[in-house]
Amino acid sequence: MIRSIVRGVGCALPRRSMKNSEFEAIVDTSDEWITQRTGIRERRIADADETTASLGEAAARAALDNAGLTPADIDLIVLATSTPNNTFPATAVEIQERLGMRHGFAFDMQAVCSGFVYAVTTTDLYLRGGQAKRALVIGSETFSRILDWTDRGTCVLFGDGAGAVVLEASEGQGAIADRGILAASLRSDGVHKEKLFVDGGPSTTGTVGHLRMEGREVFKHAVAMITDVIEDVFRQAGITAEELDWFVPHQANRRIIDASAKKLGIAEEKVVVTVDRHGNTSAASVPLALTAAVTDGRIRKGDLVLLEAMGGGFTWGAVLLRW
Ligand code: UT7
Repeated sequence: MIRSIVRGVGCALPRRSMKNSEFEAIVDTSDEWITQRTGIRERRIADADETTASLGEAAARAALDNAGLTPADIDLIVLATSTPNNTFPATAVEIQERLGMRHGFAFDMQAVCSGFVYAVTTTDLYLRGGQAKRALVIGSETFSRILDWTDRGTCVLFGDGAGAVVLEASEGQGAIADRGILAASLRSDGVHKEKLFVDGGPSTTGTVGHLRMEGREVFKHAVAMITDVIEDVFRQAGITAEELDWFVPHQANRRIIDASAKKLGIAEEKVVVTVDRHGNTSAASVPLALTAAVTDGRIRKGDLVLLEAMGGGFTWGAVLLRW
């Protein structure tokens, strides 16, 4: 059977870092509150010349370099983003053009913070269905552009950045020992759509709008939703938490990450955490964390890796793969 294996990873971050203390001059907050409640210490904020497309392109090029491939080897680009350069065309086609690709196809995927997990799962189906051979799956966001910088409940939480992986169709045995994507589980429930949303859009206000969130409400649901899809992929693959090598969760809040790992029985030392450096970068958070753990040598060939995310919609999902 065909498995989608990861050939390379890469990321790109805006030049400018913004520390918690810098928010003290903007809203009624403190470094202490942000650190204690979220685990965030700094985040990157895009300058005017840094966009979802430019960051996505840079992450894609880094992933291609890591894989020893060029754009000519790619026939599909799936970009997970909620902050596209324009309402249309898809920012994925802009990245395709920036990479000099005149072949293949590209599209955006919108599942907010779960976007990368949705995009990896979707791309896996394209590769296994024979529609493409090698794909770039990118998560790229510039959430700083849709933040209400007067709302202390949200502006301190998010950051900008991009991460990417190259997925390749490869022959597997259909066994748990195979490299590649082994199981996936996606969920959504629109009943929660007003707990985390943007208050504008082309078909309603004709404006881009700003991010609105009932943080406590999101927090309340997060751990149960995350553990639900993770238990589903464990069941599908017939494995337990002890067999896992690395847990790469969505980086929204250190407390959510710790509580989920604890509930699932995943040891602390197997959890990849970057929320302290990046804040919540929505669809970019999982590939950014993944790239960090691959680059520093933690994730190695043959390791069993679990990806997870939860966000606006609500949407949530998990992917289990062997590196
Ligand atoms: O990626 C998509 C998923 N998103 C998330 O996972 C976010 C989930 N939610 C969270 O991470 C947390 O709910 C927050 C970090 C947003 C908030 O933490 P919390 O422990 O749930 O705090 P809270 O909302 O219950 O607020 C506690 C207090 C409130 O004051 P009162 O009402 O107790 O007087 C807030 O007004 O903290 C206040 N507060 C702040 N204080 C200082 C809220 N934001 C700030 C702030 N600085 N930036």
